[in-house]
Amino acid sequence: MSPKVTPETVRAMKARGERIAALTAYDFPMVKLLDEAGIPFLLVGDSLGMVVLGYSDTTHVTMAEMEHHVRATARAKPNALLGADMPYQSYESVAEATANAKRLVGAGAEFVKLEGGQEMLPQIRAIISGGIPVCGHLGMLPQSVLKEGGYHVKGKQAAEQQRLIEDAKLLADAGAFAIVLELVAPPVAREISGKIAVPTIGIGSGDGCDGEILVTHDLVGLFPWFRPRFVTPLSDCATEIKSAVVKWKNAVTAKKN
Ligand code: KIV
Repeated sequence: MSPKVTPETVRAMKARGERIAALTAYDFPMVKLLDEAGIPFLLVGDSLGMVVLGYSDTTHVTMAEMEHHVRATARAKPNALLGADMPYQSYESVAEATANAKRLVGAGAEFVKLEGGQEMLPQIRAIISGGIPVCGHLGMLPQSVLKEGGYHVKGKQAAEQQRLIEDAKLLADAGAFAIVLELVAPPVAREISGKIAVPTIGIGSGDGCDGEILVTHDLVGLFPWFRPRFVTPLSDCATEIKSAVVKWKNAVTAKKN
């Protein structure tokens, strides 16, 4: 069995020039499958709200819901590093951030991820000094989707590019062990990745990051009602499930008593 993945392992992967494949998981069987497939970095993302809980966006996800799913995923005891998103408004102050990060670790998370740059430094520093590894998240911040009126690419204008680069450096200096770059203009994502020592994990940000993350449901075709345009599903699980169910239903209803 390969050794347990830690935040240090993930940092070392960048240092060795080894790309990082990361995926989301929200329950026990999915963590088992992804871990058996050798994915080193798993995230109980708050995308949970959209692809599992039926919410319209991630802002409705609660701490209790995250804890419930983190507990389920942690029972799989993966070899992979298993982290959790801090839900919307669960890290407004330093006190809330540290208390809620502890709750997620209590449920089984090995790191927490939170959205934001410079304005989140006090929270990030406090969580890290409490011994909890933090993954940053810059670019399009899904928890701001209502405020921003949609999911828009970031880093198209010079000022925004500079802000992203600056934020990435600040997060790395504060001790974040990795940074997710979501919907960042690909040249900017590449530039950031070249400028900081910690790995960048891109989503919809081109090929220049140190790794990539996807919502597993998008990758395997398990949420056919909405798919981000940057994802090419590699299987069609929704159709597979429906076809197995229809075959079974037809077999049951064809039987005579
Ligand atoms: O919520 C989520 O799933 C995420 C990733 C896809 C980066 O934040």
